Amino acid sequence: MIQEVFGNNVKQFRIQRGMSQDILAVKCEIDRPQISKIEQGKVNVTLDTIQRISDALKVDIRQLFSPKIDLHPFVKWAGGKTQLLEKLKKLMPSEYDCYFEPFVGSGALFLNVHPEKAVINDSNTELMCAYDCFKDDYLFEQLKAELKEHEEHHSEEYYYEIRSMDKDENFLSLPIYIRAARLIYLNKACFNGLYRVNSKGYFNVPSGKKAKVKTFDENNFVALHNFFKNKKIVNLCVDFDEAVKSAKQGDFVYFDPPYDTPENKNSFTSYSKDSFGKEEQIRLAEVYKKLSNKGVLVMLSNHNTSFIRELYKDFNIHVVSAKRMINSDASGRGLIEEVIITNY
Ligand SMILES: C[S@@+](CC[C@H](N)C(=O)[O-])C[C@H]1O[C@@H](n2cnc3c(N)ncnc32)[C@H](O)[C@@H]1O
Repeated sequence: MIQEVFGNNVKQFRIQRGMSQDILAVKCEIDRPQISKIEQGKVNVTLDTIQRISDALKVDIRQLFSPKIDLHPFVKWAGGKTQLLEKLKKLMPSEYDCYFEPFVGSGALFLNVHPEKAVINDSNTELMCAYDCFKDDYLFEQLKAELKEHEEHHSEEYYYEIRSMDKDENFLSLPIYIRAARLIYLNKACFNGLYRVNSKGYFNVPSGKKAKVKTFDENNFVALHNFFKNKKIVNLCVDFDEAVKSAKQGDFVYFDPPYDTPENKNSFTSYSKDSFGKEEQIRLAEVYKKLSNKGVLVMLSNHNTSFIRELYKDFNIHVVSAKRMINSDASGRGLIEEVIITNY
């Protein structure tokens, strides 16, 4: 059992760091077939081998023995990166100090990678209330209790009652677990699983007309709670520029902004009442360049438009295709090209 846990962790850390078995074998001065057997949990490794592997992977020995962490997004989010995960992971740097994700959304990449040290941010206050609840025992229990209440009371009428809570002038003074539970419930019960607000900032997605709604997965919630309590994760709710101010040489920043609108198409940018247009994309490209000049490792994803390619022409542009998941116009679902841009 312990051999399997160790082997599986070695494999996961090796893949996260973009290393092949051959490279790990050279770094540890161990035969490649032996590495393969270790990863399959078929070898009773010596202390010396454990030390060499932990040095090569630059990972604390204790982490090589901890049970597998498997975290998933707790909301469905427009522009969520579940589809592109494997491509993003391949293009991530193999080593970095602190992980930054200034447009975290549902955190598909962040949760999959579950770094030891990170700064996550989103300008969506309701979403960040939810992330904050995972950090604290009391807030976490209250969040689950509220979600169970929503599940029990769910109906068409109830959905619209909860949806209209943000029209109350005292809404922002409510305890954060109430706001977080409202966001998660609406996200699960609404049409197409989405968070969208109108120009006044009010949530405006119609009901998904579901008879029953399941708002959370207990195992995933517990894993998220343990992760946020035990790792060094800073949650922010500011503009992206502010969120990366503390990034320094050797840190890694992943930018996943609202998409640039492809020529002749509509694109979803209504995460908040302030939309993310061309000027914001230009401002972001300036922040990207500043970080790059500081020696920060930077990765960014966006649509493959001529505007984006021009903004990042001095960097490495990888074109990938992705299946768009959230679009009210059924004809808009399908394959669309995206770019992943790196400065390394
Ligand atoms: C494409 S989504 C990110 C999706 C995310 N990677 C995921 O896996 O779900 C873009 C996010 O940027 C946030 N956002 C928009 N403008 C922002 C700004 N100026 N600063 C920080 N976050 C912003 C939105 O609230 C939205 O959650």
